[in-house]
Amino acid sequence: MCGIIAYTGNQNAAPILTASLRQLEYRGYDSSGIALVSRGKLKTYRAAGKLAQLENRLPNKISGKIGIGHTRWATHGEPNDQNAHPHTDTQGRISIIHNGIIENATELKRKLEAQGCVYTSETDSETIAHLISHSIISNPKMAFLDVVRLALKQLQGTYGLVVMNADAPETLIAARSGSPVIIGIGKDEMFVASDSAALSRYTREVVHLDDGEIASINAKGFEVTTLDAISMSKQSVMVDSSQLNYELGNYDNYMFKEIHEQPESIRRTLSGRLDHRFNTAHLGGLNMSPRDLMNVRRVCILGCGSAYYAGISGADMIETLARLPSKAEPAAEFRYRNPVIEPDTLYIVVSQSGETFDTLAALREIKRKGSHVLGVNNVVGSTIAREVDGGIYMHAGTEVSVASTKAYTSMLTCFALLALHLGRVRDLSPQQGEQLVNALEALPEKIKVALEQNQQIKQLAKKYHHINSAFFIGRTNAYPIALEGAQKLKEISYIHAEAYPASELKHGPLALISPQTPTIIILPDNDLLGKSISSLQEIRARKGPVIALTNAQNEDIHSLADDVMYTPNTHPILHPIIMGIPLQLFAYHCAIAMDRDIDQPRNLAKSVTVE
Ligand code: F6R
Repeated sequence: MCGIIAYTGNQNAAPILTASLRQLEYRGYDSSGIALVSRGKLKTYRAAGKLAQLENRLPNKISGKIGIGHTRWATHGEPNDQNAHPHTDTQGRISIIHNGIIENATELKRKLEAQGCVYTSETDSETIAHLISHSIISNPKMAFLDVVRLALKQLQGTYGLVVMNADAPETLIAARSGSPVIIGIGKDEMFVASDSAALSRYTREVVHLDDGEIASINAKGFEVTTLDAISMSKQSVMVDSSQLNYELGNYDNYMFKEIHEQPESIRRTLSGRLDHRFNTAHLGGLNMSPRDLMNVRRVCILGCGSAYYAGISGADMIETLARLPSKAEPAAEFRYRNPVIEPDTLYIVVSQSGETFDTLAALREIKRKGSHVLGVNNVVGSTIAREVDGGIYMHAGTEVSVASTKAYTSMLTCFALLALHLGRVRDLSPQQGEQLVNALEALPEKIKVALEQNQQIKQLAKKYHHINSAFFIGRTNAYPIALEGAQKLKEISYIHAEAYPASELKHGPLALISPQTPTIIILPDNDLLGKSISSLQEIRARKGPVIALTNAQNEDIHSLADDVMYTPNTHPILHPIIMGIPLQLFAYHCAIAMDRDIDQPRNLAKSVTVE
């Protein structure tokens, strides 16, 4: 999504803005820009494409000790120079950067144009600059902060924004309604950003704005109030430095690095949480007593994309171990269908970034209706992590590649821990608990073994990367593995991929099986293996190529499948974690063979902070 950075202090702003935009680059965007106040004038530089395009366009020396910068992920208007932020009012005095969507922009534009404002872009964001400018003209005696408040009250939709005024060149105004904004505190200098990564070189001390808050910031400090001018007292927090210094090292891209970090990231997720004494998981952050957990009758997990798929596996783990009816639902669908919220249902929102708009909105809807919500989150201090009633941090470490890998497997690991904990509060026996505790402890080493297949999977990708379409199929707890496998392949290689429960194949998709359309069939070593092998046979009978992914030693699989990917065997609850690894590698090597942009696939963004 869009990235925001702003600076005011004693240094030249331009190099700070571009270096910070570089730190936001991983979030994915299609244009970027900066604006500065230099000798009383606004100077704006913008370019479509990657940050290098903007840097090529910047003069060698740009003066100005206050400035704003932005990376854009297009929502309104195509990604070109004109639509890039910052946007300016007609007089060229007000400059704004904005993350979010202004829903009443068309209506406001009509009025503002009638009053003489000249638009130069197709964006909804430009309206904010004109609206503020128009408020200044209509209220010439009003303080700048009050004018901005007045303008913002007219906006419908979401925003995280920063406003700069050439006529008040020592002050930045930042505001938040639905999109993250943090203030970075330096020595005689201050920053505003959408993400602490943007501030990594300059400060660890940050203040999070909450929805409905507006901050006036100068080099010496800041003041936070609400849109109704009520003063707010805000505490700064120190950002965990491991979140800030995350470099590529010797890897070619972050995705490959993050795939290989999984033994370590899973070890961190498990760290201090396995309890051998009572054969359970120790989860201190749930803020729920065993009695509270005993009263839970159902579990509902909400997330988006891969986090939703992790939620499907999580629901299966909880239902299997705790015998509680459990389901997962895409967060956006849930919030819009006026869901029945029950007091004895345990709601869990799952999100790597902790900023995904739809997941946050689902969380707020449940809380509004009075229920308790837990979070499975990676980013400490993120909006979702701050708003949930308790939860489990993944501790996967920073994830930069747009395609989630290590955060996904850490989500699954958190769910396995929670399922174990809920199970042991209920009917799971100490012996069953012990088996899972031991299996979880052994998991990081098994992931290492799964990663050793990298070269074989690279060869497999060479054989298959020319395909136009692929199916991924699996039964019961292998179905979400198939969903995530298809997701990884389509998002980074752009090969069309669809996932089905294996049992559904003959109810429709079998019509598409042909020698040109391979099927990746997930075959965990469980009671349903025989039935899944029958599905494999049905595909072979239609001359469809088959790649089997299995942890079973079964001769039939070898003789029937064209190719086989193996993983070590583990506790059946953990199959989705270990069997996801070869599918990540398969997608990765297909995308490499096709020369794709691995870390920033087209049209996608790392943190989806708009609806
Ligand atoms: C896919 C992927 C996305 C995210 C989704 C939710 O590889 O990364 O599908 O899983 O956008 O993001 P978070 O987990 O940040 O809420």
